[in-house]
Amino acid sequence: MRKSASQDQSAPARPAAAAPSLLAPDSLAYSLLLAARVIAQVHAGQSLTQALTALGGTAAAARAAAQDVAFGSLRWYGCGEFILGRLLSKALPHPDTEGLLLAALYRLQTRPESAHVVVDQAVAAAGELAGGAFKGLVNGVLRNYLRERDVLHIAMAADEVAAQQHPSWWLARLRRAYPERWREIAAIGNVQPPMTLRVNQRRLAVADYLAQLQAAGLSARPLGSAALILDKAVAVDTLPGFADGCVSIQDAGAQRAAELLAPTAGQRVLDACAAPGGKTAHLLETADVELVALDVDALRARRIEDNLRRLGLAATVRVGDCRASEQWWDGNLFDAILADVPCSASGVVRRHPDIKYLRRESDIRQFARLQAEILDQLWSLLKAGGRFLYATCSLFPEENGAQIDAFLCRQPDARRLSEERLLPQDEHDGFFYALLQKAA
Ligand SMILES: C[S@@+](CC[C@H](N)C(=O)[O-])C[C@H]1O[C@@H](n2cnc3c(N)ncnc32)[C@H](O)[C@@H]1O
Repeated sequence: MRKSASQDQSAPARPAAAAPSLLAPDSLAYSLLLAARVIAQVHAGQSLTQALTALGGTAAAARAAAQDVAFGSLRWYGCGEFILGRLLSKALPHPDTEGLLLAALYRLQTRPESAHVVVDQAVAAAGELAGGAFKGLVNGVLRNYLRERDVLHIAMAADEVAAQQHPSWWLARLRRAYPERWREIAAIGNVQPPMTLRVNQRRLAVADYLAQLQAAGLSARPLGSAALILDKAVAVDTLPGFADGCVSIQDAGAQRAAELLAPTAGQRVLDACAAPGGKTAHLLETADVELVALDVDALRARRIEDNLRRLGLAATVRVGDCRASEQWWDGNLFDAILADVPCSASGVVRRHPDIKYLRRESDIRQFARLQAEILDQLWSLLKAGGRFLYATCSLFPEENGAQIDAFLCRQPDARRLSEERLLPQDEHDGFFYALLQKAA
């Protein structure tokens, strides 16, 4: 893949998209401009979530339009870069302009019928960058693309990174782990995921909430014990009863965690890597347990509290490193532990397309080391006979089955009750679960 000038930089502190603009807020030019800055920030090493926070002060419609283009462009990993590699003789020295070209190329690909509007609007957006120095270049590159589109797309189809829209190291790992299915897995990682709800069954039954959705003109279908998949994504605040805690947003695969750990009333439960609290809340919706929700990141831990407040649930929220129990533990063993460990997140890439840009292959070894430390430390906090659920949203065996095999060799008092490998598909993201039990 062509190396862009921006990839060599470390994440700058400037806000991604807050700079003022003369463009009309409802224009395509404006959404391309905002998306361009977000894309440049991700290329420079920021997470998409961080880069999007700079859109906070922007009108909702303009923000949604920019977000749509930014997500789509990042999911289209390798394609825009391939085209620029063919049309530019050297790397662009201006990251925001490169981001603009990637956003515009993505838009041209998804809306070929309005090609000339897209080009005009991209040129208008270029007028807002670098004092307009690259307007001519943006115009020239996009018009060349339109002229050479067929030839470029034939060449692109033969380039594995562009054809599969993933980094080559990632594809090699998928191919090794899933020789029959790696293409299908990569393809799912490139599409927009469904919006899935989890009905708070303490408040109402799934069928009753489905009826409320239908009354609000929204259609959905049930999946599993508490999930509803919406036919069309909507703004969260348009969901009936959302503010009152009737429902949460959570992928159906993520909802397997509480179902598998299945705590019972009165148990003492630890959610050891809990923020932002999606699985914490589901555990509390499942049974009247005494729950400690821990996370090492204080800012993210605050989101656990916000989520629990909205849902009318209660837990003891602690900030600390789960490997250093002296920081947060009261000395009482747990009946059940959920370890939803930090991982490559390769199973949820369609929701976080920035990780195609941010992850490095060497990260996998580091994650695996951290996960092994977490497993070893948390195991000592579990009662004899207690249940332990290890969870990742990774597709790579080193973080999943191989990690658990190695753990079971180290811990003679651990046995595997079940293992579930959810490969990503239309209805859910990719997850791995291993349910373990400590000898009584
Ligand atoms: C996969 S996310 C958890 C998602 C969460 N369980 C949910 O369903 O909403 C992993 C979390 O682990 C936290 N984390 C990473 N290292 C940790 C550690 N050593 N101790 C505790 N938490 C940690 C991260 O801050 C992150 O919030």
